[in-house]
Amino acid sequence: MSTQRGSGPRRVTVAELREMKRRGEKIAALTAYDYLFARLVDGAGVDVVLVGDSLGQVILGLDTTVPVTLDDMIHHARAVRRGVERALLVVDLPFLTYQVSREDALRNAGRVLQETGAQAVKLEGGSPEIADTVAALVRAGIPVMGHLGFTPQSVHVQGVRVQGKGEEAAERMMAEARRLEQAGAFSVVLELVPGPLAAAVTESVSIPTIGIGAGVGCDGQVLVLHDMLGLNTGFNPRFLRRFADVGQAVTDGVGEYVRTVKDGAYPGPEHTFE
Ligand code: KIV
Repeated sequence: MSTQRGSGPRRVTVAELREMKRRGEKIAALTAYDYLFARLVDGAGVDVVLVGDSLGQVILGLDTTVPVTLDDMIHHARAVRRGVERALLVVDLPFLTYQVSREDALRNAGRVLQETGAQAVKLEGGSPEIADTVAALVRAGIPVMGHLGFTPQSVHVQGVRVQGKGEEAAERMMAEARRLEQAGAFSVVLELVPGPLAAAVTESVSIPTIGIGAGVGCDGQVLVLHDMLGLNTGFNPRFLRRFADVGQAVTDGVGEYVRTVKDGAYPGPEHTFE
C-alpha cells in the first residue's frame, strides 16, 4: 500500500534511485530554474530535476557560481517546485552556506526544504568535514546528493579542468565517494572525471553516480538544460551533446517578429478587436 497522500503522479524517491542503480536502469537528470521549463522537463520524463547553482551563469549572467546566494536558490526553486510533479527535486546549496559550520548547513538546508518544497539538497566536496556535514543533514532528515570531481564553487582553486587524473588523485576521489556513501548521501554527481575512474567509482559504491563529463560508466547523466537545448551557444565542451537548437528558434522567431512589426504585416486585421 502506498504511504503517499494527495493526488497527482507518484514522485520519484531517493530509494527508487538506488533501486534503479540495482536493476541497471539509467537515471536521467536535468537542471531547471523556472516554472515553465520545469513543467516541460518534468513532463518529458526526467527522474531528477536539479535547481543548480549554475543558474548563476545561465540565468543571472555571472562568470561563476560563487556569488550565487541562498535567497537566489530559494527564489528559483520555489518556481521550479510549482512545475515539477513527478521528478525528485534537488536544490544546490550555494557557496559558503554549508562549509562554515554544521549549524549553518542544517539551518540553510532546512530552509531550502521548508521554503521550496524540494525533497533534497546537493553540496560539493568529499573531505571528512563535508562528510560530517552530510551525516548531520541526513540525521536531521535531509537527503543529500554529493558532488565530486570538478566542483564549480572551488573554481578559483581547481580551475576548470578534468579532475582525478593520476593514481593519487584517482585514489583520493574514490575515497571521497566512499566517504559520502558512508555519511549517508543518496547519490553523487561526478563532474569532469576521466571515464575509467568514474566507472570504477560507480562500481565501488552502492549509491547511484550521476555523470556530467564523466563518460559512459555512470548510473545516470545530468546536463545543464540551457546547454543541451542550444540556448547557451558559447559553451561547447567535448562532453556536451545538443539535443535541440532552441537558441536558433528564438533568434528566428524574434527576428521574424521584428520584421513584421516594422513592415506593418503584424498585427493584421485578424488580430484586431472590432
Ligand atoms: O549547478 C549545476 O547545474 C550542477 C550540475 C552541473 C551538476 O551542479
